[in-house]
Amino acid sequence: MLSKARNDLLTQTGPGTPCGEFLRSYWQPVAAAEEMPLDGDPLPLRIMSEDLVLFRDDKGELGLIGRSCPHRATDLSYGRVEDGGLRCLYHGWLFDRHGNCLDQPAEPAGRKFCERLKHKAYPVQEKGGAIWAYMGKGEPPLIPDFEFLMGPEPNRLTFRVIQMCNWLQGLESSTDPAHTTFLHRRPPGTPSQRSGADVAALRGNDPPEIDIEQTPYGMRIFALHNSANGRKYLRVNNYVYPNGATPSTSAGEMGYQGRVYVPIDDHSHCRFEFFYRHSQPLDKERLIKNHHENIGPDKRHIRRAENRYLQDRNEMRRGESFGGMGLHFPSQDAFAIETQGVIQDRTQEHLGSSDAVIIGMRRALLKAIEDVKNGAPAPWVIRDPNDNPFADFLCTSGFIEDHEDGPSFCRRMLAQKNAAE
Ligand code: FES
Ligand SMILES: [Fe+2]
Repeated sequence: MLSKARNDLLTQTGPGTPCGEFLRSYWQPVAAAEEMPLDGDPLPLRIMSEDLVLFRDDKGELGLIGRSCPHRATDLSYGRVEDGGLRCLYHGWLFDRHGNCLDQPAEPAGRKFCERLKHKAYPVQEKGGAIWAYMGKGEPPLIPDFEFLMGPEPNRLTFRVIQMCNWLQGLESSTDPAHTTFLHRRPPGTPSQRSGADVAALRGNDPPEIDIEQTPYGMRIFALHNSANGRKYLRVNNYVYPNGATPSTSAGEMGYQGRVYVPIDDHSHCRFEFFYRHSQPLDKERLIKNHHENIGPDKRHIRRAENRYLQDRNEMRRGESFGGMGLHFPSQDAFAIETQGVIQDRTQEHLGSSDAVIIGMRRALLKAIEDVKNGAPAPWVIRDPNDNPFADFLCTSGFIEDHEDGPSFCRRMLAQKNAAE
């Protein structure tokens, strides 16, 4: 349970809010790269309650500027891409990707009004199949070189999905190892892309034993499942500062997802999914097909509150799914987090021992937000390229030996992974 003041602190992300300043200390993904092809149209975006337009100028360079024209507020995302920038349709003012005003055709020639005007503009760059923006103060840091951003292109795939609730509910679903056994339980005989051991863990009735370990980039999360063969099966996931997670492990070659939850405003967010497989290309055709079967052209889940997530109680009765909502995990997660309310009222919740990760992550977030508010640097903001490789980063699962615990299992898996490279 949280006090109202603390819940507000964690969930309000507009300009000038403490959490907003904390999130703005890092680069944030704002669009999937495929949304911004070289000849693509300007894309209206709302990020942390700021209305913006992402566009490519006529040289193909990316820009992210305020959506409201600084003349008299007409929406620049309808504007014309020409003459080195984006031209407002109302009176023709022209802005480049740095926010400079290049032209005011209705103003008398020779007036210097244009030069005194600086429109809102943020640095952007493409990495890992996403367009990232730095909306903070001062010199931008580096975008972390996570393997799910840096791996060979055939091994990576990026999607953006819109979810209709506060960003923290999204992040908390991705770091909560306890819900997998219930919400995502797969009935016997249902097809799965996951490994046999992982499916066994997901089909078990026993909730996992949960533990956490602090790491420089956030938190390593251990979920230890009883397996049908009597052995213990460990899933290792991560919370990554400030709003990222790697929740979805399957053994070895099935890979995992990096996820980042970026507020649109305080009532909705974008979930960025970075699918990644370490040593083999992904089956992109299957992943894209699956995505389009479950996500609409509006980038929202097809199962949504307006249609009660298409819950089918006969499907539930027949044992075809646990919740009568199909077998697509992200749709099930969307149901769970969107029905918590647009901003979950955490003054009314009752946390148990299985919520250890949620408690630990909130504690880390609250400390980081307070630190930034008091003028200290945000944790794990990378400025030195030598700090950027993550030799100790791991998202995996597997059978654990009797003498092992979570950290020693990770050391063994990391040694195996690094030896294979
Ligand atoms: S409102 Fe944009 S040029 Fe006038
Ligand atoms: Fe989930």
